[in-house]
Amino acid sequence: MDIDFTTLPAPDRYRLLTNFVGPRPIALVGTRSSAGHDNAAPMSFFNVFAHEPPLVVLGIQNRGNGEEKDTVANIRRTGEFVVNMVDMKLADAMIVCSVNFSSDIDEIAFAGLTPIPCNQIDAARIAESPCSFECRVERILEYPKRVLVIGEVVHMHVQDQCLDPQGRYVNPETYQPIARLHADNYITSDRQFELKKPDALLPFEAEQVAPSTERASR
Ligand SMILES: Cc1cc2nc3c(=O)[nH]c(=O)nc-3n(C[C@H](O)[C@H](O)[C@H](O)COP(=O)(O)O)c2cc1C
Repeated sequence: MDIDFTTLPAPDRYRLLTNFVGPRPIALVGTRSSAGHDNAAPMSFFNVFAHEPPLVVLGIQNRGNGEEKDTVANIRRTGEFVVNMVDMKLADAMIVCSVNFSSDIDEIAFAGLTPIPCNQIDAARIAESPCSFECRVERILEYPKRVLVIGEVVHMHVQDQCLDPQGRYVNPETYQPIARLHADNYITSDRQFELKKPDALLPFEAEQVAPSTERASR
């Protein structure tokens, strides 16, 4: 089947993109309201975009009634947010945080999670999250009914057991984020496998990548 996206109605584009572009990582995004409440909302239009500068991106659309979500209002005002990664232990609480609560609810506590102050930004991160990234807004790209938020990571917290003994690489046995598939379907990352370029093909590489980038990381 061929599908022309230039003539396709928006709900169909949403269905096809979210059904087939996956699994998508989930950021449980923490922000602070003007009255000081801790807001948290999952976002799967999310990814890391670069490491120099260290950028993450969030795609956040307005609610059905056209209002901006609390996350966007808070990010516009404070210029700060925290990305908490989500594993199986956090899955139920993550779904609670996806409910459209009023902005005077402390959503982290309501979901049964523990807020702790961030180091460099004015927002609470989630103690139970395996790792969290404190971010400052780099820029906000405006689109009709939605925004793309680009954030620069200024601080990372990672639970010790999610790192190898040297504290450099991830421990894949203990860090297993969940990701979103289609509709209400998710996937765990507990069936990982290694895939290396065959040695026979290495002479064809045009350039050697510096050890600090992709080739050296797992
Ligand atoms: C797994 C998951 C991923 C989601 N991803 C997004 C997303 O990328 N962008 C978005 O606008 N809403 C997304 N949502 C919906 C928001 O989490 C939801 O609208 C939430 O109520 C927003 O909260 P807020 O008003 O506190 O910002 C997602 C929901 C779930 C369950």
